Amino acid sequence: MRAVVYRKPFDVAVEEVPDPRIEQPNDVIVRITSTCICGSDLHMYEGRTTAEPGIVLGHENLGIVEEVGGGVTALEEGDRVVMPFNVACGFCKNCLAGLTGFCLTVNPSGFAGGAYGYVAMGPYPGGQAEYLRVPFADFNCLPLPEGTEHEADYVLLADIFPTGYHGCELAGVAPGETVAVYGAGPVGLMAAYSALLRGASRVFVVDRVPERLAKAREIGAVPVDFSAGDPAGQIRDQTGGEGTDKGVDAVGYQAMAPAGDHEEPASVLNELVRTVRPTGALGVPGLYVPADPGAADENARHGMLLVAIGALFEKGLRVGTGQANVKRYNRQLRDMITEGRARPGFVVSHELPLDAAPVAYQKFDQRVDGYTKVILKPDAT
Ligand SMILES: NC(=O)c1ccc[n+]([C@@H]2O[C@H](COP(=O)([O-])OP(=O)(O)OC[C@H]3O[C@@H](n4cnc5c(N)ncnc54)[C@H](O)[C@@H]3O)[C@@H](O)[C@H]2O)c1
Ligand SMILES: [Zn+2]
Ligand SMILES: [Zn+2]
Repeated sequence: MRAVVYRKPFDVAVEEVPDPRIEQPNDVIVRITSTCICGSDLHMYEGRTTAEPGIVLGHENLGIVEEVGGGVTALEEGDRVVMPFNVACGFCKNCLAGLTGFCLTVNPSGFAGGAYGYVAMGPYPGGQAEYLRVPFADFNCLPLPEGTEHEADYVLLADIFPTGYHGCELAGVAPGETVAVYGAGPVGLMAAYSALLRGASRVFVVDRVPERLAKAREIGAVPVDFSAGDPAGQIRDQTGGEGTDKGVDAVGYQAMAPAGDHEEPASVLNELVRTVRPTGALGVPGLYVPADPGAADENARHGMLLVAIGALFEKGLRVGTGQANVKRYNRQLRDMITEGRARPGFVVSHELPLDAAPVAYQKFDQRVDGYTKVILKPDAT
């Protein structure tokens, strides 16, 4: 089959790879109809990880069940399904508690949590391909209505819609509150959208990319351009000097300085400490890593950042972090889409055939030409 393969930094290619097959009785094989490129893929694309050449990328996958293992009970050939990016077993201590992003059995490296097509997240090839093997399929497949309706909304249930929602959950966003979201990438836009769905009174979205800030405005959030300087100050000025009740970091360690010419990995965390009012809370779905060989300073290379812990303590802020437990939210968010209460697909800028992956990666990475969120369609030509 054809699949998107990581070759070396800034180089992915669509290559022939072996078809996946049923390996365990509780596997299914899914024929992929929609699969997205994620900001998380860019960490590998840019060579910022230990990802080996040859890895098939893609953890945001939707398709049709093509083949069913003998031990699968809830799925049939022809079912339309979307898979959380987390591969999870369903029976370990963390899965039983709903913390499927930290499954204790699926990752042989000993790290908690698994994912498709992702470095260090277990032996699961990605779904930017014609077919995908889904382990523990009864647990990991979320059934969707038949047909093709809402495909561009439902595929976002694999990661960014639940992840944005998770950012709000970690921060405890409640009705009437004000929220500052840093990052207007797909995750940040979904966090802002989720905050509005949860009844926030005002949501600020910070970024510097004009098309992305325009999307934030489109959904009713207040765009804040950090290239104009001091985003925390801009937000405090618009909240009577108080700051927001809650904050979400949807940027992570690849945070840019205001001029956009170099990274300042702790800058978003520190801006959030300045932005959120005393006793507020921060949700941090933006990724931070234990090791970053590409970082500019020695501490950051070991995942240690200079964060304003003194001010954080003084303000009594709570902080929640980590991979999203997608399965905890995907059914409810699916039903909101089905019932017309949520349309996360507004974030999708491009739907392209699989063969367009190399160009799409390049443009999404450079954040040019309006590449906000790309869906690849392996069945299109
Ligand atoms: N926790 C999870 O489960 C999970 C899941 C998916 C993605 N992620 C992570 O979420 C983050 C965002 O993902 P994405 O797909 O939206 O990525 P993205 O790279 O498309 O978006 C990041 C955005 O942040 C903006 N930005 C950079 N520096 C900034 C700053 N100082 N202030 C404000 N904005 C700034 C960029 O311009 C960009 O638009 C990544 O770190 C990704 O790895 C985490
Ligand atoms: Zn993703
Ligand atoms: Zn588990």
